[in-house]
Amino acid sequence: MSVADEIKSRIDIVNYIQQYVPLKKAGRYYKANCPFHSERTPSFIVNPDTQSWRCFGSCAEGGDLFSFAQKHHGWSFREALEELARQAGVELRRQTDEQRQQAARQDVLRGVLQAATDWYRERLWDTPQVLAYARERRGFSDDTLRTAALGYAPAGWQHLRDYMRQLDYSDQDLLDVGLLGRNEDSGRVYDRFRNRLLIPIRDERGRVVGFGARGLDDEDQPKYLNSPQTPLFDKSRLLYGLDRARQAIRNENTAVIVEGYMDVIQAHQAGHLNVVAQMGTSLTESQLRLLTPRLASKVVLALDADRAGQNATMRSLEVARETLQADYSGRLSLDIRVLQLPGAKDPDDLIREDAAIWGQRVVEATPVADYVIETEVQALPERPSIQEREAVARRLLPLLQASENRLYSRDNLQKLALRLRIAEDELLRWSQRQKPVSVSRRNNTEAAPDAELQPAPPPQEDQKHERDFLGNLLRQPDLVYRINRVFRELATGDLALSHGPLEAFGESDFVNRDCASLLQGLLLALRQDEMSEMAWLNQHGDASQRETLQQLERDTPASDLDNARTVMRQGFGADLSVVVKRAEAVDWQRELVRTALRLRLRRLERERRELYYLLEDDDGGKESLHERIQLSVRARNRIDKALRNQTPAKPRSP
Ligand code: UTP
Ligand code: MN
Repeated sequence: MSVADEIKSRIDIVNYIQQYVPLKKAGRYYKANCPFHSERTPSFIVNPDTQSWRCFGSCAEGGDLFSFAQKHHGWSFREALEELARQAGVELRRQTDEQRQQAARQDVLRGVLQAATDWYRERLWDTPQVLAYARERRGFSDDTLRTAALGYAPAGWQHLRDYMRQLDYSDQDLLDVGLLGRNEDSGRVYDRFRNRLLIPIRDERGRVVGFGARGLDDEDQPKYLNSPQTPLFDKSRLLYGLDRARQAIRNENTAVIVEGYMDVIQAHQAGHLNVVAQMGTSLTESQLRLLTPRLASKVVLALDADRAGQNATMRSLEVARETLQADYSGRLSLDIRVLQLPGAKDPDDLIREDAAIWGQRVVEATPVADYVIETEVQALPERPSIQEREAVARRLLPLLQASENRLYSRDNLQKLALRLRIAEDELLRWSQRQKPVSVSRRNNTEAAPDAELQPAPPPQEDQKHERDFLGNLLRQPDLVYRINRVFRELATGDLALSHGPLEAFGESDFVNRDCASLLQGLLLALRQDEMSEMAWLNQHGDASQRETLQQLERDTPASDLDNARTVMRQGFGADLSVVVKRAEAVDWQRELVRTALRLRLRRLERERRELYYLLEDDDGGKESLHERIQLSVRARNRIDKALRNQTPAKPRSP
C-alpha cells in the first residue's frame, strides 16, 4: 500500500470534511452547501463508499481527501501529504540514500564547475592579448564578456589543477566534470583546456555544466574543444544561451536557433535575446522539447549558409517533424521557418555588420514548406524526368501534409504541383494514399460498437486502466497537451462544457489515488521548464509519487513506444512502406488519447450516479441538477461520437 493509501485508510473523508463543512446525511451520501463557492441549495456531496467529494455546482470540482485538504487549506500536495500523514500517524519515507548521495555528488560537481568558471574569468581579465581578441576580433563589449562569463584557460598543463587543489578538490572531481584529461599510457592527468577562450555552457537554470573552448589562432585544432559528456553535461540536451533567452522566447513566442556560441553571444549583445545555439550538432528531439510547446510555438532555424549549414537545416527539419509527428498525430503544431543567410555568412557576421537587419530577417523567414520545396526542386537536374519529379514529390508529401491547417497544406500541394509540373489532382491522389487514417474507414458507419458503450467495468479494472494509461503518458508527457486539445475541440461552442464535464484532463479522471496524485505532479512538472518532467518529479515529487513513478516505469511495457520511436526515426526520405509504419506509430498516440476519453466517460458515469442520487432527495435545487445532468449527457454524447468516428487500426485495451 502506498503512503497515500495508508493515510486514506486511516482518515475517513466524511469525518475529515465534517470538521470544516456541516455535512448532512442523505441516504448513502452526505451533502452540504459547497464550501468553495456560495450557493443556496447544496450541491456539494461526499461519497463515503468511494471516499470522494464533488461539487456539482459552479465549481464543478471534486477529488479525494488530499485534494479537499489542498483546496480547503491552500496547501500543495506535498504539504497536504505531510500534514495528513502527521494526523494519521503515518511515517513518510524520505529520499533513498542513493538518491541523496547522487544529489549531493552533483552539487559538489556544480561547485567544481563554478569555481573553474570564476578562475578562468579572472585569467581573461588579466591577460591583455586575449582580452583584446575578445574585444576586437570578436567585437564583444565588456558587458557582454561579463554576462556570458567568458574566460581564458592559460597555456600549460597544470594551472587549473593546481588552483583547484588549493580549494581541496580532488583529481577525481575534476575528471568527473571533464576539466582534466588522463593520459592512457602514463596515467598522468592534465588540464583539458589550454590556451583557449572559454565559454561556460549553462543549463536552462543558469548553472554551468560544461565549457566550449575556442582556439585563439585559426590554425588551432579543433577550433572548438568542448567538455566531454559527463553526468551534468549532455550536449544533445542543452541549448546554448537558453538561460538568458528563455524569457524573451516566451514573450515573443519565437525561438531562433543558430549554430554557434558566438552567434548567440553576438545576437544577445545586439538585444536579440530569443536566440539559442544547437552547438554545431544537428538539432535533437530533446533540444526541441526544451522550446516547444512550453516556451514558443514558432521556431526559426538560422543555420549557416554553406552547404553544411543547408544539410544541417534539412536534418533539423526532419528531427522537428519526427518529434512533432510523434506527439501530434501527424500534424505539426509548430510554425517552423528557415532564415536564409545571404552570402557565406553566419549570424555573427551578419549582426556585426548590421544589427537592425537581423530582426527584419527573422520576421521574414521562409515557411518550412516553401523552403523544402525550393531546396528540393533546385536540386533537380535541368530537365528532370517524371521519375525524378515523382521521387521529389514522394519525399515531400509527408512533410507538407503534416501541417496543422488543412488549407495551408492544400496550398502547399498546389505549390508543389506547380513547381514539379505534375497535375495537382495526381498529387492529391498520392497524398491521400499516404494518409495515416484511410478515408474509407473513417466513413464506415457500421463500425463495431466501442467498449465504452458497454456498462462501466468494476473499479478494480478501472484502476488497471488508469495505471496503464498513466504509465504510457509518463513516457510522453507532452501528450497531455494533445489530450486537452481534444477536450477543447469537443467542447467547442459550449462554455459550460469546457468548464464542466469536458474540462482539461486532471486528477478527477482517476479513481486510484496514487495515479491521481502522480498525474497532479506531472501536470505541475509540465508547467516548469527547468528540467525534464521525470527529473522534476524525482526531485520535487513526494515519496509516494516517486514510488508510483517507479512502479509504473517497471510495469509499462516499453515496446509500444519504442516501436513507434524507431519508425519515427526513419526520416523523411521515407518510402511508402515507411509511411505506413509511421502511421501505425501515430495510431499508438491516438490510442492514448482515446483512452483519456474513455477515462472521462467513466468519470462522467460515476458523477451521473451521484447526481441522480441528489435528485431523489426533495431538497429543491432540482433545476440546476437537471441542467448538470443534461450537460453531462451532452458531454457524453460528444465523446461517444468522437470515439466512434475514429475507429482505431488495432483495438487495444481498454
Ligand atoms: P562554426 O564552425 O560555425 O563556428 O561552428 P562559429 O560559431 O562560426 O565560430 P567562429 O565564429 O569561427 O569562432 C558552429 C558551432 O559548432 C560547434 C561549436 O558549438 C560552434 O559554436 N563546433 C564547431 C565544435 O563543437 N567544434 C568545432 O571544432 C567546430
Ligand atoms: Mn562564426
